[in-house]
Amino acid sequence: MTNIILLGPPGAGKGTQARRLVEERGLVQLSTGDMLREAQTSGTEMGRKVAAVMAAGQLVTDEIVIGLIEEKLKAAKAKGFIFDGFPRTLAQADALGALLKRSGQALDAVIEMRVDDEALVDRISGRFTCGNCGEVYHDRTKSTAKPGVCDVCGSADLRRRADDNAESLKQRLMEYYKKTSPLIGYYYATGDLSTVDGLAEIDAVAKSIADVLDKAKGA
Ligand code: AP5
Repeated sequence: MTNIILLGPPGAGKGTQARRLVEERGLVQLSTGDMLREAQTSGTEMGRKVAAVMAAGQLVTDEIVIGLIEEKLKAAKAKGFIFDGFPRTLAQADALGALLKRSGQALDAVIEMRVDDEALVDRISGRFTCGNCGEVYHDRTKSTAKPGVCDVCGSADLRRRADDNAESLKQRLMEYYKKTSPLIGYYYATGDLSTVDGLAEIDAVAKSIADVLDKAKGA
């Protein structure tokens, strides 16, 4: 098993790199952001509850996201998992440790993707994704070959997220610094933390992550 956490602020490139790791290493991506957006479209009570919280850029409760991850870990048979956007609080980190331990698993690496705040604003404001296959694009740095059509699946369902606006991003960053950034110290203390330069080009970031994982496997 290979279990990895991608840790970083909104727009750091977690989703972009997670998709590459799925392709290259056959791991399963567990994105709590994607799960919560899916819940919103399913019309459930929980979906309605989280929609307003997410639009405002605040964190959904630990209870809800830990429940989602627990369900997925039970259901999926995998060579390993990429935790993308989870954990985001110390309580979530403790819960993940306990869930993995219970199933006889461990973390192989926690990869902090370091990016400065100015770059995040540019990345978030230019982002769009394919509603069909989830491929992530950017107006300037990673556009589609044919305007309005996904390169991967050919869908014309290209979307921008409701929380990708300046006001919500400010709140998301505040939540990150107050509640998620303490996890950098937490995982440094457990000995699992590695840091990569998230400001580098997408291929260069992927190479740094591959180096960390190869080192962790060889250790
Ligand atoms: P979530 O969906 O997890 O969003 P996020 O953490 O804010 O992260 P993003 O998806 O915005 O960014 P990313 O790091 O994946 O970057 P991406 O690869 O897309 O969470 C949304 C909301 O759900 C939260 O605000 C919260 O309300 C709730 N939530 C989720 N998980 C929760 C949890 N555990 N607990 C509580 N609440 C939770 O890249 C961004 C852009 O940059 C793209 O356009 C991409 O093409 C471009 N790009 C990527 N890499 C590079 C590069 N190296 N160079 C240039 N451009 C790049």
